[in-house]
Amino acid sequence: MTKSFYLTTAIDYVNGQPHLGHAYEKVVSDVIARARRSLGQEVFFLTGLDEHGQKVQQAAQSEGKSPQAYCDALALDWRTFATELQLSNQDFVRTSDPRHKSVVQAILTKLNNEGHFYRSKYRGFYSTRQETFLTEKDRRPDGSFDSIYGEVTELVEENYYFKLRDHQQWLIDYIEHNPDFIAPSYRRNEVLGFLKNNDLEDLCITRPAARLSWGIPLPFDPEYVTYVWFDALANYISVPAAYGDPALRAALPDLKLNEPTGDQRLALWPADLHVIGKDILKFHAVYWPIMLKAIGLSLPKQILVHGWWQKDGEKISKSTGNIIDPLAVIKDWGLDAFRYYVTRELAIGPDGNWTDAGFASRYTAELANGIGNLLNRSLAMLRSYRNKTVPARHDELAHEASKTVEAVRKQLLEPDLQGALQTLFSLITHANQYIDQTAPFKLAKDPAQAQRLDEILYNLMEVCRILAVLIWPFLPSTAEKIFAQLGLLKSPSDFNLAVWGGLPSGHVTNDPAPLFPRRDTLPSPA
Ligand code: MSP
Repeated sequence: MTKSFYLTTAIDYVNGQPHLGHAYEKVVSDVIARARRSLGQEVFFLTGLDEHGQKVQQAAQSEGKSPQAYCDALALDWRTFATELQLSNQDFVRTSDPRHKSVVQAILTKLNNEGHFYRSKYRGFYSTRQETFLTEKDRRPDGSFDSIYGEVTELVEENYYFKLRDHQQWLIDYIEHNPDFIAPSYRRNEVLGFLKNNDLEDLCITRPAARLSWGIPLPFDPEYVTYVWFDALANYISVPAAYGDPALRAALPDLKLNEPTGDQRLALWPADLHVIGKDILKFHAVYWPIMLKAIGLSLPKQILVHGWWQKDGEKISKSTGNIIDPLAVIKDWGLDAFRYYVTRELAIGPDGNWTDAGFASRYTAELANGIGNLLNRSLAMLRSYRNKTVPARHDELAHEASKTVEAVRKQLLEPDLQGALQTLFSLITHANQYIDQTAPFKLAKDPAQAQRLDEILYNLMEVCRILAVLIWPFLPSTAEKIFAQLGLLKSPSDFNLAVWGGLPSGHVTNDPAPLFPRRDTLPSPA
């Protein structure tokens, strides 16, 4: 069984509305998944939902529903969201799945048996909104807490704790010896700074069931449910375990979960890439590696941390109405325009700023006038001058195209998605300039220039074909449309097709149709 490239996103809180931040992370991950597949790797891409916790319990109660029924209804919207984004995920995990619960309970049993937990009484402050305990350090000089914590109450509570202190030094060493473990490097430095300057506090991994029943019961103490973050992080291994992953089965021999048979079994762990936002870095770069080490599993190869979007320079917030509804944008402009803007506008790492004007301007300049115009003009000329028939091979742009292909391959693997788009768009710009400079529309009037016209038309058609392959991970539908207009029956989803000379002489294309209709020619939206 060969191991697949295993890629995950954060699992979204089921009770939030899908917004730009969620859509961004999922699109970035999908582009990486598609790119790897296009480059010939077996990929398993996982996304899903984080469903337990007090907020969900309260919201369900206020709607008079059971938490499960409440989550089931919302999960439908999230699945639709994933479909609308054309995510190519293999599975969709929900933390209320029985398979997930079995794995979390097996982990808890193992760690408890091996002495990683202890019970202790805690007196202090608790934020329901963040579902976390607060310390004196979180208090302002006047004794109050930041509004992000919502209502803070004083509690005396007995809970189970996970001993983290013993893990601090090996984790520092691990991060220092594995420079790619956390990317970008400034996020890695942040984690190292935190670990070197603070003593790790033991992690409270339970909540009393009397206060919170919507959680995974502790297998060795029914008075408690599992802390949501402990539960949620385990999704990354509960799905591999459900597929009979050998690493998971060896680490959790007592797992009560049916083994899938034959070729349904998959080897996934360790994950190759966890894609997450900067706000949940500590959970992934500190708690998660420690959990894995304690369970006896290897660590993921990389945690890739993206930044946060703002809109018009302000925090995205439902309460102020400063939001972007990705589904409305997609309905208005098309999915590929959305996928393009978010991956082109923002590199993976820094924070980004959405503006409607910026979106419209990229749509017009880069999609409609860039790639759309290149394909349209090239096909229209081939139709007018050569009856849609591809002339003999000519290699004028072959070198530049091959250089682009190699650069994009490297950038996709890094992954530098923004860089890959910039690289392939410089080929688009160059090909558009090539049309202006060689002026095939003038050559067509002079029969003595027939040979030169053939050469130019071949170069243009071949550049369009290669571009479709390069752009497929980002804009799958657009790439398919380009291939269809070129009259190619294959899918552009195989990077190996991006080799110069693939279009045979004599091949007949289809008619051009605009890939990205210019907005001023569209009826105004209803
Ligand atoms: N449920 C936890 C994650 C558990 S992972 C084991 C959670 N959920 S979330 O719904 O709040 O966030 C999901 C992802 O969306 C996170 O990676 C988060 O960083 C990302 N984003 C939420 N708002 C965002 C922006 N405004 N911009 C970019 N990404 C943002 O955290």
